[in-house]
Amino acid sequence: MISETKFIWFNGKNVAWKDATIHALNHSLHYGSGVFEGIRCYKTSKGPAVFRLQEHMARLIKSCESYEIPSPYTAKEFEAATLELIKENKVDACYIRPLVFYGYGHMGLNPKGAKVEALIACWPWGTYLGEEGLEKGINAKISKWRRIHSSTLPMQAKCSGNYANSILGKLDAVNNGFDEAIMLNIEGRVAEGPGENIFLVKNSELVTPSVGEGILKGITRDSIIQIAKEFGIKVVERPIERDELFDADELFFTGTAAEVTPIRSVDKKIIGSGKRGPITKKLQEKFFQIVKGEDKKYDKWLS
Ligand SMILES: Cc1ncc(COP(=O)(O)O)c(C=O)c1O
Repeated sequence: MISETKFIWFNGKNVAWKDATIHALNHSLHYGSGVFEGIRCYKTSKGPAVFRLQEHMARLIKSCESYEIPSPYTAKEFEAATLELIKENKVDACYIRPLVFYGYGHMGLNPKGAKVEALIACWPWGTYLGEEGLEKGINAKISKWRRIHSSTLPMQAKCSGNYANSILGKLDAVNNGFDEAIMLNIEGRVAEGPGENIFLVKNSELVTPSVGEGILKGITRDSIIQIAKEFGIKVVERPIERDELFDADELFFTGTAAEVTPIRSVDKKIIGSGKRGPITKKLQEKFFQIVKGEDKKYDKWLS
């Protein structure tokens, strides 16, 4: 169950959680014509801090543009509304969900003329793949569903409709007793998780699928690449064959929800030592230090 907070920012003002409702004939409910973000706010010694807020809101506006949704608010307005909402809801740490969507008044696939609405909700939400998963790693399944292709849908847009593919991937994993899916692209190479990017470690190098492989350019992915380079770890963005997963020394997912989660097995085959590897641990520990405001050098990533 979702952990309710007091207010949701809805079309420009904070309203009571239970009053943030939409009509049954909302365009986006029927056609997935909304774009969203997933952001996290962490507890720090100086109060709640939102991780890479500007980058997330810039991506929200880009998602709007990809789907020709005229956003009623600017990135700066969304940023200010988010910080105010966190204050009003008096939460130390939370997940933040902005959504811009076509509302009520128009049916049919042409959304032009439908009212555009916007909301931001925030609520306490713990680790996505489990506290134990962060330490011990999770079991992944290569999905029977291929990841959407950029010639079909703009993959850099976090559009609600795009996530039908992610839901199928996730269901395929959990229905078969796994924690998460690894989705291949149309060509059969490694793409990403349903809501995470993927990294492998081989011979002390960090490797992740290049953007052309059909992935969302994750903000956590970008953070991990920067942190790894800072540690002097070589980072390579390139196509990854499916077989390379099984041969990896370490594997892990990154994402706002999943944070940095080790993968201990793929299709029941143990990866590396079968537990969080040393490079994963080093990157994960630094990531958590940064988001909790314990590394001054990265204060620029916190709002
Ligand atoms: C498909 C997909 N890939 C990767 C990610 C990770 O992106 P980020 O690190 O920006 O949350 C997400 C989550 O937003 C996602 O939905």
